[in-house]
Amino acid sequence: MTALAILTGILSLSPSASSLALRPRSITPPTGCPLPTWQVTNFAWYNGSHSLDCVHNEADINAKGCLCGNTWCEPNQATCNGSWVNVCYTGMPNYQPWGYGPPQTLEIDFADGLTCADQYIGYRVHDIGHGESNCGYADRGLGRIVSFYGSSNEDVSTGHMDYVLGNGHALTCDDGRQITYSGSTDFQLTCQHDAFFNATCSAEPFEIPVLSYEWVS
Ligand SMILES: *[C@@H]1O[C@H](CO)[C@@H](O)[C@H](O)[C@H]1NC(C)=O
Ligand SMILES: *[C@@H]1O[C@H](CO)[C@@H](O)[C@H](O)[C@H]1NC(C)=O
Ligand SMILES: *[C@@H]1O[C@H](CO)[C@@H](O)[C@H](O)[C@H]1NC(C)=O
Repeated sequence: MTALAILTGILSLSPSASSLALRPRSITPPTGCPLPTWQVTNFAWYNGSHSLDCVHNEADINAKGCLCGNTWCEPNQATCNGSWVNVCYTGMPNYQPWGYGPPQTLEIDFADGLTCADQYIGYRVHDIGHGESNCGYADRGLGRIVSFYGSSNEDVSTGHMDYVLGNGHALTCDDGRQITYSGSTDFQLTCQHDAFFNATCSAEPFEIPVLSYEWVS
């Protein structure tokens, strides 16, 4: 065995150890200030090969459908007995028009109880996999934003998550000052594809390290 082969063998034995070593740790907070822990306990993303995509897919954006009552009938304008509408219009009863697969969904659960649940909709959509997710409208004004970036097209890839706590969730230090935090991390994203290339993606539990703080006045 050459020295290179031995070295390669050693390196291939420890991929997880090396990626762990590269993962940043949380900062040390200013004295007397609490530090949050952001532990993702569940990550589940469904992206079907025929999920409606009103953001990136020109054909979907232009597609018309036959809305008959609360459901979709065959998209044939001549026989449509309901309304002939753009399937991406605001306020449709559902975003699985005739001929499409189930819509995309994203769920991110945290150990502290925060849940981010996105269901693909045609309007005011959170563009799943391209940024901000929906962590509950009740929370919206408080400035907390959990963003996810990733692709469901590979079996194994690197996802990325950013966490901004927001001023509305500021924590109180011993001296009474208010502090807020943000952080981010890469994580391993695993996707399984069925015969239709529908993707079901998940991740092992991981932590988003806190990387910076900001005083809230
Ligand atoms: C419209 O036509 C479809 C079949 O083409 C039928 O299933 C549906 O019940 C009809 N709806 C109404 C409101 O007549
Ligand atoms: C997978 O995709 C096909 C084709 O779009 C669709 O008919 C089917 O419902 C999907 N299966 C699941 C489990 O989402
Ligand atoms: C979602 O799935 C579609 C169809 O397979 C694919 O083209 C698209 O890139 C996927 N979206 C992301 C963010 O990976």
